[in-house]
Amino acid sequence: LTRFRELSVETMGQEMKELLENIGLSSRNAEIMSRMVSKSTKQPILDWDKIDPINENQITDYSSLSADFKDPAILSKVAVLKLNGGLGTTMGCTGPKSLIEVYSEKSFLDLMVMQIEAINKKYQTDVPLILMNSFNTDEDTKKGIIKYKGHKITIKTFLQKKFPRIKKESLLPVPTSANSPIEEWYPPGHGDVYDSLLESGLLNQLLEQGKEILFISNGDNLGATLNAKIANYFHQKNLDFLIEVTPKTAADIKGGTLVNYNNHLTLLEIAQVPKSHISDFQSVFKFKTFNTNNIWVNLKVLKEKIEKQPLDLDIIQNHKELNGTRVIQFETAVGSAIKHFEKTTALNVPRTRFLPVKTTSDLLLVQSNLFTINHGKLKPNPDSLYLGFPQIKLMQHFQYISDYNDRFQTIPDIKELRHFTVSGNVFFGSGVILKGTVIIVADEKGRIDIPSGSLLENKVITGNLRI
Ligand code: UTP
Repeated sequence: LTRFRELSVETMGQEMKELLENIGLSSRNAEIMSRMVSKSTKQPILDWDKIDPINENQITDYSSLSADFKDPAILSKVAVLKLNGGLGTTMGCTGPKSLIEVYSEKSFLDLMVMQIEAINKKYQTDVPLILMNSFNTDEDTKKGIIKYKGHKITIKTFLQKKFPRIKKESLLPVPTSANSPIEEWYPPGHGDVYDSLLESGLLNQLLEQGKEILFISNGDNLGATLNAKIANYFHQKNLDFLIEVTPKTAADIKGGTLVNYNNHLTLLEIAQVPKSHISDFQSVFKFKTFNTNNIWVNLKVLKEKIEKQPLDLDIIQNHKELNGTRVIQFETAVGSAIKHFEKTTALNVPRTRFLPVKTTSDLLLVQSNLFTINHGKLKPNPDSLYLGFPQIKLMQHFQYISDYNDRFQTIPDIKELRHFTVSGNVFFGSGVILKGTVIIVADEKGRIDIPSGSLLENKVITGNLRI
């Protein structure tokens, strides 16, 4: 069983490539994956002593971008790409996450389309929306975009790779043939975007259409809107690669951070950090900002870099269990490409450009009166006491969107909320106002009903009661 692990990187790579081709991977994809497996299992993990925080001249502040960076003509050179490989399972939904309705019956996808369509109309331009789908999301997404025919937006999709899960012990692929069950495969992370964009032919198509700048972001980040000021800055500075980062708070300890590694700007993900240095990595004093995954890439430079061979990106091992067998998914992250580019910068953006919806707690925040919406774009409500976001923790009973919707008759007023934790069987009437710190914990078999119109300010409610 350990035979594979004992081989040299080269021999392992060659043997792995053959195995992968036998289960249906193209020669190119088998090459990419075999390199990922052999490199990441044979080579030493990162040397923490070679890591330094980034310095001031590697980061630009969004507020310092001058008013000159406002020329809308630049938008004709921009394409928007949303990473759309993920499912909505965490929030109890089947199908692509981008089709979940998040804001007044509009899905992530509806909001993206509304934003870009509004820009295309306002500036008489033609920014296309490109969706990178995975085998999990492709079919439903294609059905989901039919309704936008006739809208002032071109939507294109392409498919990312499908790699076999690998058994942890033997390093052999789980699937035995191309037709093996779907759960034996996985999409290999968003770092796949560059190679799959090239392979799909879309990279060349975009360049032929005069697109020079690609804005990539997570499909579930409602703050990742197309920003003309950043596009102009990127263009005027003639940059190759820009990552939007934002100040880290104690709640952001999971996010990747930009560091200097061997004197080169590099993205460091928590999965790459040796266990003994996790608390250093999470320190908000040492690493002050984190990666939003909003990324701007110069398409011409990208093409030059990847035409001959795929970018050699850092590999993240994602360990899982599949029917009682320990398996590894070898993944890469889109931001880790920064180390292959020369003219790079981090841009320190306001938190409003990072509004991910991973859980229903995030959903409550974005659906609340802390925001208003305009052409699919969330804006902080000018009437709210906007001092940063409250910390919201909705526990298990609220995990699925269907339960969340049942448990809140209307979304509470949270303009003056700082902390909110709800655990157990709790229901909220309409027009509830929450202020300060509010903690509600129902007994294991109990139930708590918060009546319509209640004002809860700095309150802890526990037990089993209908007040
Ligand atoms: P994730 O949600 O998996 O990464 O993907 P994350 O933001 O690091 O999240 P957590 O912390 O693990 O929850 C971010 C975006 O990338 C897409 C997802 O659909 C999501 O929009 N993605 C991820 C892909 O398109 N393909 C992949 O292989 C992985």
